[in-house]
Amino acid sequence: MADVLTKPFVVTDLRFEHHLVGRAFGIGEPSPRMSWRVCGTSPGFVQEKYEVQCFDRKDQEAISPVQSVEIQSADSILVPWPLELPLKSRQGLFTRVRVWDKVQAKPSEWSELSYVEVGLLERGDWQCQRISASWKQDSSVPRPEELYRKQFHVDHRRKISKARLYITAQGIYQAEINGKLVGDHFLAPGWSAYSERLHYQVYDVSDLIATESTESCIGVRVAEGWFCGRIGFEGGRRNIWGDQTALMAQLELTFEDGSVDVVCTDESWEVAPGPVQLAEIYHGEKYDCSYEIPYWSSVRSKNEPGDSVWSKATNMDPLPTSTALLAFMGAPIRRLHILHPEKIITTPKGKLVLDFGQNLVGYSRIKSIKSEAGRQISLFHAEVLENGECARRPLREADALDKYKLKGLPEGESWEPRFTFHGYRYVQVDGLPADTDPLSSLEAVVVYTEMEPAGEFFCSNNMLNKLHQNIRWGMRGNFVGLPTDCPQRDERLGWTGDIALFTPTACFLYDCTGLLKSWLADLAVDQAVLGGVPPLVCPNVLFGQKTGFPQVFPCAIWADVTILTPWAIYQSTGDATILAAQYKSMQAWINAVPRDSANNSPLYTPKQLQLGDWLDPDAPPNNPGQAKTDAQLVANAFLIHSLDLMAKISAILEEATHTRTYVNDAMAVRKAFADEYISPNGRMISDSQTAYALGICFDLFPEPKQKARAGARLAEIVRRNAFHIGTGFAGTPFICEALTSTGHAQVAYRMLLEEECPSWLYPITMGATTMWERWDSMLPDGSVNPGDMTSFNHYALGAVATFMHERLGGLRCVEPGWKKSRVEPIPGGDITAANINHLTPFGKVACSWKIEDGMFQMQVEVPPSTTMEVVLPSSEQSEAKLVSSGMWKYSIPYKQPNEWPPNALTWYERD
Ligand code: BGC
Repeated sequence: MADVLTKPFVVTDLRFEHHLVGRAFGIGEPSPRMSWRVCGTSPGFVQEKYEVQCFDRKDQEAISPVQSVEIQSADSILVPWPLELPLKSRQGLFTRVRVWDKVQAKPSEWSELSYVEVGLLERGDWQCQRISASWKQDSSVPRPEELYRKQFHVDHRRKISKARLYITAQGIYQAEINGKLVGDHFLAPGWSAYSERLHYQVYDVSDLIATESTESCIGVRVAEGWFCGRIGFEGGRRNIWGDQTALMAQLELTFEDGSVDVVCTDESWEVAPGPVQLAEIYHGEKYDCSYEIPYWSSVRSKNEPGDSVWSKATNMDPLPTSTALLAFMGAPIRRLHILHPEKIITTPKGKLVLDFGQNLVGYSRIKSIKSEAGRQISLFHAEVLENGECARRPLREADALDKYKLKGLPEGESWEPRFTFHGYRYVQVDGLPADTDPLSSLEAVVVYTEMEPAGEFFCSNNMLNKLHQNIRWGMRGNFVGLPTDCPQRDERLGWTGDIALFTPTACFLYDCTGLLKSWLADLAVDQAVLGGVPPLVCPNVLFGQKTGFPQVFPCAIWADVTILTPWAIYQSTGDATILAAQYKSMQAWINAVPRDSANNSPLYTPKQLQLGDWLDPDAPPNNPGQAKTDAQLVANAFLIHSLDLMAKISAILEEATHTRTYVNDAMAVRKAFADEYISPNGRMISDSQTAYALGICFDLFPEPKQKARAGARLAEIVRRNAFHIGTGFAGTPFICEALTSTGHAQVAYRMLLEEECPSWLYPITMGATTMWERWDSMLPDGSVNPGDMTSFNHYALGAVATFMHERLGGLRCVEPGWKKSRVEPIPGGDITAANINHLTPFGKVACSWKIEDGMFQMQVEVPPSTTMEVVLPSSEQSEAKLVSSGMWKYSIPYKQPNEWPPNALTWYERD
């Protein structure tokens, strides 16, 4: 029997588009859609209507709203902007919402006020010039940072009511006003397809303008970053988007009398080389204090020391109109955690190494170090130790080395890099004064794009909990501005295949919609340049580089990102505008898929090899694409899956003709696939884990009996393989689900719990704290895999977390945006309890279960305005029961499945 608990009724989390709650500042959407959550409603709550009020000041009690709108609607997710007019550039409003409960016909309390402000929407709003350093530089070598400054006058007879800095750079910038840092963004303006899409940021700088003096000063550091620093593997390339850094900044001071002063970048600004002598993404940062200019971003009187280094900035041509200046759709990269070293290690070579106990992405900060002037401290970052020393080889050509030359201040010195980041757990510190305590002199600053944590998972098996934690850390480290493959070596690129497979997991762990939406827009732009074929990495830095990859490479999975990622975001958010925005990109890919026209077959028949089931554990270290599963089979399986999704997407977008086309195409390829790759009895041409996993999950078997045979064969292969994983990128997200959905859940659990290499838990037995790129990035003897592509922080193989969420935790989304969820735990292995929750657009959905004294006990939480299908693990209650919002408890007798643990098969046994 279910019983019900209740709590008070409040509207919370009023938010705009996909921006974080309370952070819709400087946004680019003039009519932002609004969403809210309702907490503590009575069970079965259904919203009847809502009312929105907008104010232009915060003290709403004292003033009447600019507008008040009441709307009869049950919607609470991405509802249309309530005002008749869109917001104008720079305009901000405070809004609040209340809702009515249909059953009780009474309103909630008003939500707290939530502020939204737009940035500069038109190019004409930008009055500033694009400026650069005046001196000629050799663009073939890294250049030092540039410091730009401008002193300005503020007439304080008027009171400032609002001060905003609108700013961007070609490079990476960090701004200061009167010697104080502006905002807390890291690596702004972030990385994008710069030629077409350059982001700008908006900062509230009201508190930084001097009030006691009429003079103020703005200073901006600009370094090369991705824009003109070296990016790419096998030598990479410098100056991909331009061979010169540039700055555009516009400081607007609005006074209470309505007047506005604007300080714009132009030739009146000064520029000088700064103390950051090297600022590279891969190689790190080198700071030489002898180049410091005291008070460079503060008001200086004439003839102060360092005056001679300044020269006039140069006006560049205006930014071409083909480059859109855009506000970011998500949140910025920020410094989000601080870790302290756990251990001091003296290596066999006598090096001092600090162990932070966690493979992380960010940088090391040195603190209060006292020493003589001129001493240099070097920080070399590594993910693992090999033979007791920091392992250099996995970084390939990235130096990952920061250097700081001390000034010799008697009170001690602290320093941190500004323009680089590293993927590391260990720091080798050279040059630390002998009398300094290393543990208190260094800390690690963890950086990634700020995203709302959305999913948690725990169970009674601590190894699985650790696996889940490692998957979360892997995501953090590879969501630095955009989704990347890895954060440490000379890559860190937006590899499309990795995120194509990981998006469902990512969207469960964090609300990463804004970041992914922006990256997908970049992808569409880069794809158009290649005639509709998506690039392997976005932003496409491989174009024009000698990498061994063809410039135009129609590669399944990597290119299917155009469809798989928007679809997964849609599932998690219910936002169909993402599908509409990417529809052309999706279609362009499907149109570009090379078919076997010579034989009049709809099958995907690429001219080049495919990456296929990349990193199959049996592929040789230096040929990760040489998998057991035929790459063309993999490509066709994904083509059918993509076509199925295209049919669904077209129907959602009411594109009836296209729906029919994709349904027919999917049918034709399915038939050709079965003819080509499946035997009448359900065996597949590639008799491999990945082939069956894809066949089962993408519904590729014409007959149910073939699918059942395929499931049995898959279980047999897994048992014969002694429960070792046999899949690469393509099969990994699907293998456990394929086993479970064909009735072999216990085989799936046995495989999930395997600890010997290759398996998901093997890295944990080797001390992993993130997901590895390879199943055996570190070999059992502790040496680093000999392949030249060995990262210890790659999220792709962590896609198994979705199985843990959906089958072990038992929680899945049934209708987009979690309007309807399903709870159907499948207990397995020796796991006796699991606890999972996810913050949906409607509120928290959760399930926790345990097996105790022969009883299966479960509690679920269903968010307001949603429903949940509940299925208990019992043969008597296999039908789903639909429940409405609230908390529900269940308790039924439970018998452990008797096939645990399943047997491994030897080579001569048959299942
Ligand atoms: C990346 C991968 C990527 C692959 C494809 C690697 O170097 O790190 O994650 O998908 O190349 O070739």
